[in-house]
Amino acid sequence: AKAMKEEDKLYRHQGTLYATIKCPPENLQALEKMEARPDDVLLVAYPKCGFSWMVGVLQKIMVAATGVEKEAKCDPLLEFLCPEMQKMVSECPSPRLLGTHLHPKNIPASFTAKKTKMLVMFRNPKDTAVSYFHFTNNNPFLPNAECWDKFYSEFMSGDVAWGSYFDHALAWEKRVDDPNVMIVTYECLKKNLPEGVRRVSKFFNFSLSEEQIQKIAQESTFKAMKECSKESHGKMGDVFFRKGEVGDWKNHFNDAQSKEMDAEFEKRLGGTKLGALLKY
Ligand code: A3P
Repeated sequence: AKAMKEEDKLYRHQGTLYATIKCPPENLQALEKMEARPDDVLLVAYPKCGFSWMVGVLQKIMVAATGVEKEAKCDPLLEFLCPEMQKMVSECPSPRLLGTHLHPKNIPASFTAKKTKMLVMFRNPKDTAVSYFHFTNNNPFLPNAECWDKFYSEFMSGDVAWGSYFDHALAWEKRVDDPNVMIVTYECLKKNLPEGVRRVSKFFNFSLSEEQIQKIAQESTFKAMKECSKESHGKMGDVFFRKGEVGDWKNHFNDAQSKEMDAEFEKRLGGTKLGALLKY
């Protein structure tokens, strides 16, 4: 990927940008036909909203509840699976832990038809943008952002891989009352991790003891997960576990950018239930 020209790293598929190497059109096409199961555990998150954090939490919950040990490797995104890998996933035993950054309109239709439970992870847009800026500059499959100001503009116009943050948020806002959808925010997880673990395990009907919940929370702090990140994410460990804080946007946004994003937030999410969860 290093030899690739910057401008070739992303391409448009049905109007949305995707990473050319990791997420080619044949993956997305094959995925449309994926068969979901009612007992799949599907994690959905816009990039940089805390996906890897929640994968870690879910892996631990599932090991504790089912007794089946899984490798501590990160579970790849559905859209990164080539058609042959998708076939292997179709043969995996239940319950499967699956994840994606796809906009809900591109999530295989079967997940809704089968009433599969979806856990949707969100984070306030300012910290998400900052985290994405650092990520894109440290990931060989994504373009280098020349500077923060340029990346900020691309984020605001949705010209980043997986598309516009606000489009994703608005689409999920329409489903906040769906009993098969649970929205968890990065900020609430930061505030009370044991409560987050408790809610998530209950949503998927995994019954855990209070002791198991506390242990999972202790093992899922930023510090604990960063320490294991070489094992779980290899060389990308320090990239995926960068800072792990709420409010790092204050070190990047200038006043005009902050005001502009507040206005965009109000315009698109003001007065909505999801908007209330993401107020920062
Ligand atoms: P920062 O770049 O702000 O540090 P994703 O997994 O969706 O790519 O999101 C990555 C972001 O989640 C990074 O944010 C990362 O540090 C943060 N993160 C990962 N594990 C975390 C944890 N256990 N606690 C808090 N934040 C975590």
